[in-house]
Amino acid sequence: MSVAKKEYKRITVKSLIEMKQNGEKISMLTSYDYSMAKIVDAANVDVILVGDSASNVIAGHETTLPITLDQMIYHASSVVRAAKRALVVVDIPFGSYQSDSKEALRSAIRIMKESGAHAIKVEGGAEIKDSVSRILQAGIPVMGHLGLTPQSIYKFGTYTVRAKEEEEAEKLKQDAKMLEELGCFGIVLEKIPAKLAKEVAESVSIPIIGIGAGNGVDGQVLVVHDLLGMTHEFHPRFLRRYMNLYDEMSNAISQYVDDVKSSDFPNEEESY
Ligand code: KIV
Repeated sequence: MSVAKKEYKRITVKSLIEMKQNGEKISMLTSYDYSMAKIVDAANVDVILVGDSASNVIAGHETTLPITLDQMIYHASSVVRAAKRALVVVDIPFGSYQSDSKEALRSAIRIMKESGAHAIKVEGGAEIKDSVSRILQAGIPVMGHLGLTPQSIYKFGTYTVRAKEEEEAEKLKQDAKMLEELGCFGIVLEKIPAKLAKEVAESVSIPIIGIGAGNGVDGQVLVVHDLLGMTHEFHPRFLRRYMNLYDEMSNAISQYVDDVKSSDFPNEEESY
């Protein structure tokens, strides 16, 4: 079903709730640097997530755990300079909010103050309730993240679909309700059954953004490098690739190497 879209000059957390109320789906995509964020913003993506997936796609780590708060602030400030319309949400990285709620608030304040971002995202439910609450009390908008939470990968052991069993699904539903009641403005649900994600989206008034969570939610998020086909060795079922940029870039760069080796580049017109 297509819904008439309202024009937004600048997306706020309020706009996202309004979009849910109007049945308009929310688009969210990651970015980690100025040049990419400029393209993503100009394409009218509603929310730019400075995800800690930067640890994987930018820094080449196996997991999201190594990225630091300083590194996230660096990525976020580059993205903020590019985003004229999108709401910029930044992941609080592993190790900067789990100790206690004071540390969580200090980290959230650093992100907001030093990067100029508009909101932060945290992974987890009941176990981080105090931290979420304290950050919200300081006036910082918070987005939750439930289901497959990559910062806990060593607890899960694999990146397979979460909450297939009743007990985990029940906890996820309770956590979503709790995050809504605390005052979060949205929740990312990652890699869970579509039926469960739809049930959660229908049970809360805040937007539910899915990644591998089916089409019954209020919006979708992807990692931009995956969407563009730059991470060509990663092909989960939930991913739709819109380009094969890996091959296109490889061909272009190989052509450049050939042109340099053969003295074809630069030609007279490319010289002073
Ligand atoms: O870090 C990230 O990119 C994310 C998305 C996968 C939701 O958290």
